[in-house]
Amino acid sequence: MSEFAELKVDGKLYKLPIIEGSEHEKGFDVSGLRAESGYITVDTGYKNTGATQSSITFLDGEQGILRYRGYPIEQLAEKSTFLEVAFLLIYGHLPSGQELFDFKANIKKHQLVHEDMKKILQGFPSTAHPMGVLSSLATSLTAFFPESLDPNRSAEKINLTILRLLAKITTLVAWSYTNARGIRANYPDNSLDYVSNFLKMMFSLPTEEYEVDPIVADAMDKIFILHADHEQNCSTSTVRIVGSSHANLYASVAAGINALWGPLHGGANQKVIEMLQNIIANGGDAKKFLDKAKDPNDPFRLMGFGHRVYKNFDPRAKILKAQADKILERLGVDEPEFEIAKQLEEVALKDEYFVKRKLYPNVDFYSGIIMKAIGIPIDMFPVMFTIGRLPGWIAQWKEMRNQHEPIGRPRQIYVGNTEQAYVDVGDRS
Ligand code: SDX
Repeated sequence: MSEFAELKVDGKLYKLPIIEGSEHEKGFDVSGLRAESGYITVDTGYKNTGATQSSITFLDGEQGILRYRGYPIEQLAEKSTFLEVAFLLIYGHLPSGQELFDFKANIKKHQLVHEDMKKILQGFPSTAHPMGVLSSLATSLTAFFPESLDPNRSAEKINLTILRLLAKITTLVAWSYTNARGIRANYPDNSLDYVSNFLKMMFSLPTEEYEVDPIVADAMDKIFILHADHEQNCSTSTVRIVGSSHANLYASVAAGINALWGPLHGGANQKVIEMLQNIIANGGDAKKFLDKAKDPNDPFRLMGFGHRVYKNFDPRAKILKAQADKILERLGVDEPEFEIAKQLEEVALKDEYFVKRKLYPNVDFYSGIIMKAIGIPIDMFPVMFTIGRLPGWIAQWKEMRNQHEPIGRPRQIYVGNTEQAYVDVGDRS
């Protein structure tokens, strides 16, 4: 493989160093291009542009491969747990028994949140979207832990900031859920594992003993594993670029939550279920809605379908579809949305429009089926995505800081007015 790509422009030849990754992905290093040639590259939406060199997650969109630190998602979903995957992403290796024990103990130590968080929560109307509440609560952690404002502190102090965030996010989410329903907040139960404790804080009522259903806990744990990281997606890139200004971790993650909220990104899981329910309410004609999705004049899109990177099956969608089957059967839950989803997939995968554009079900297409079956409110589906993605965001933010990356500041090609003189208001037409 040659070391350089050659770019010839205006009669001059420029050499662009070629970078090859451990999985043989290749790129041109254009970091010196403008200084040498006066030219920049333009790539709206960054469809062909790499922002960094990362060791955390590898995707192969053509082969449908997803690996966290080299471990295939299929093996992690089957054999690991969410907290073990969080450790793997953040610290770069599978923990020893002792490391995992200590990590879990440290998380338990920090699961309580300040009582004043209730005052912030009570300021929200019960109809507030849970993602707006959560991004506010994430930012408010800077008020309760002002030392977190400085991202240049020792690795040990940064690690404490990380542990507090991982520990408190489940309590904050559960408190936002009970607060919106006028139910007394539940406190963490350190006798339970991370996911079981989260479910108990969410759903236990003062009137009765709450038993965590192991089937539900296992399903939630797998959902979190499958969402834990996904290389340089929109919200992760947001966390990295906000952190590149030396903003603190909590502010960077709050920005990531807001980016994930978008219906083209993590908000899609909520839109998928709403779409499926709309199809059912309108007679269940999957083909009618597929035709709408194909109509260039109709803004309707088949939510949960398509992906910027996967041009083959999203491996997470495959696992979630199998999980949905299993969970619904084991819980004895019948979900008409699941039947419609399978119909849509079957028809779409034979339809020339979807085949030509390589549009397959993505992670959001089936995840909502499972979350609905285990009792998560539809508007909290993106919040579940947030809990799952948090270790990935943290790992990516840490990597960006450890690589001493410069502040992210893209250039542009200006296409507006050329210079013109100011005109006094009295002289304007
Ligand atoms: C996530 O990046 C990640 O890794 C994200 C994520 C993660 O883990 O972080 O995987 C999570 O965000 C998954 C995606 C969830 N979003 C949705 O399900 C929303 C529906 N999907 C789309 O809006 C779309 O597919 C995107 C946003 C996911 C990807 O958009 P791209 O890569 O910008 O592709 P595009 O919009 O340019 O579409 C290319 C063509 C267009 O048609 P033409 O102009 O060529 O005729 O495909 C069409 C689009 O109209 N198309 C769709 C479609 N998705 C793309 N047509 C109908 N329905 C769809 N869902």
